[in-house]
Amino acid sequence: MVEPSRTGSSVRFFCTAGNGMETFLTEEVKKKLLAEDVCQLHGKVLFSSSAAIHRITGLKAAERLFLLLKKDSPLRMPTRCSRAEAAFLLQSRLLGNRDQWISAAVTWSCLQRELSATRDLGGTRWSQERGESEDFAGSRKHRSELREPESEEQHEEKPSEKKRMRVEDGDAEMKRESNSFSSKILHTGDDGTSESVENVTFRISCKCSGSVSRSFSSQEVSKMMGPAVSKLMGWKADLKNPLLEVSLHLSDDYCLLGIPLTRLPLANRSYIKTTGLRSTVAWAMASLAHIQPGFCVVDPMCGVGTILIEAAQEHQDACFLGVDIDDGQLQRANENVAFADLGQRIQLLKASTVALPLPSGSVDAVICDLPFGKKFGRGTNMAADLPLILCEMERILCPGGILVVLLSPQLSCLLKKLLTQEPQEPAEPALDQKAKPQTVAAVCLSSSSLSDQQLCRQDRRPAADLQQRPCPRWSSLKHQVTFRVSLGAIDGLIHKYIKI
Ligand SMILES: C[S@@+](CC[C@H](N)C(=O)[O-])C[C@H]1O[C@@H](n2cnc3c(N)ncnc32)[C@H](O)[C@@H]1O
Repeated sequence: MVEPSRTGSSVRFFCTAGNGMETFLTEEVKKKLLAEDVCQLHGKVLFSSSAAIHRITGLKAAERLFLLLKKDSPLRMPTRCSRAEAAFLLQSRLLGNRDQWISAAVTWSCLQRELSATRDLGGTRWSQERGESEDFAGSRKHRSELREPESEEQHEEKPSEKKRMRVEDGDAEMKRESNSFSSKILHTGDDGTSESVENVTFRISCKCSGSVSRSFSSQEVSKMMGPAVSKLMGWKADLKNPLLEVSLHLSDDYCLLGIPLTRLPLANRSYIKTTGLRSTVAWAMASLAHIQPGFCVVDPMCGVGTILIEAAQEHQDACFLGVDIDDGQLQRANENVAFADLGQRIQLLKASTVALPLPSGSVDAVICDLPFGKKFGRGTNMAADLPLILCEMERILCPGGILVVLLSPQLSCLLKKLLTQEPQEPAEPALDQKAKPQTVAAVCLSSSSLSDQQLCRQDRRPAADLQQRPCPRWSSLKHQVTFRVSLGAIDGLIHKYIKI
């Protein structure tokens, strides 16, 4: 018996992406996978690639990864379409022929074997990176991924050991299932073509939006397709524990059929213990900073450190500094950095972003996710503090340095207004320069020795004083691009500037 292999052959995939993340994902598949026939749709990116599967599952801007079974134009259901008519339309459009399904199932099986082999080679490291451990549908949303209006990021705290064990257990379970599936599906003839695909259990999961969703629920659509697939393939439906999941995505723009390749979303980072900002958005912000070897990158409101960890994972030869005013956040950031084994390259410092203890022009990139509401505002009014914060970020950047900020739509409008204001008188230095370390590296080294007293001294400056300080240097920040991205319940705007 010859086992089918996809060595060297190109496979068509699609990934789901959060709203506004499609452009980042398109760039990523082109750059990292040299993907071909890349097609960007709302919430999805389709591409062909012959890259090793672990490189594809390593995509950072994607939510979930699927093997593409079929893509078609959107279904136009007549008004007051009966269930039977809808089922007929759906099946005649999407079912296709048996060979297509067999070929997809066999390719899927090959990819599962490749994934399984990668896990064998990479041991726990791979499993930690991808964290294959939970329900097949993997559709459970991490509550921390949703930024509620005025409540902001929530933090999911998981003891590291527990998370590692869960991941390793899941890894073994996934391997068992993948092998058992392969033994059922990989019956091939001597010429390498599939002879039979037997004893396969499956379930259809459906995501509908647009006009179809106004007539039928996702469950109803799944029920329309399930029996037809069963009849065509001789497969048995199993809603609880199927060997094969088939995902159907229907919108006003397209119909897509696919088979998910991993249980958990790619966006679930197993190297992050406590999640803050959505990891995909954090990665996208870091990608806009074009970090080069030797760069010093600062997140002046680092929270639990998501942006720095995403950036440091991708850029081995740069150094990173996280600043936050909140002890609890810094504690979690510290744990996260240790969990991701990045303690050598990410340093943390307690300070206020309105008075950063860093010399002017000492930083190559500033990446910052500003608080949107009450939870992380520490009682401060972000709108009132924005001029000062901007002033400090601009001050520490070197000429040519890059500023990437994530703001609420309201703060984003304010920022645009500020940056179009006329320049004013030169600003006072934010801190007594004598008290400052001379380089970011020095700050990193001395951060542990910066006493709370020193920090309090910074914070004791009268707020009114700080707010009235003129900030003429904004005119040096040249706007490059803005992206609107979904943070769950609300949207955020990522702005990129270069200091000239
Ligand atoms: C939106 S959260 C950042 C979340 C972060 N990106 C993450 O993934 O965890 C904003 C952070 O700014 C911090 N913060 C608020 N005011 C600050 C200030 N004046 N100086 C420094 N940090 C401040 C809060 O403690 C909070 O951790």
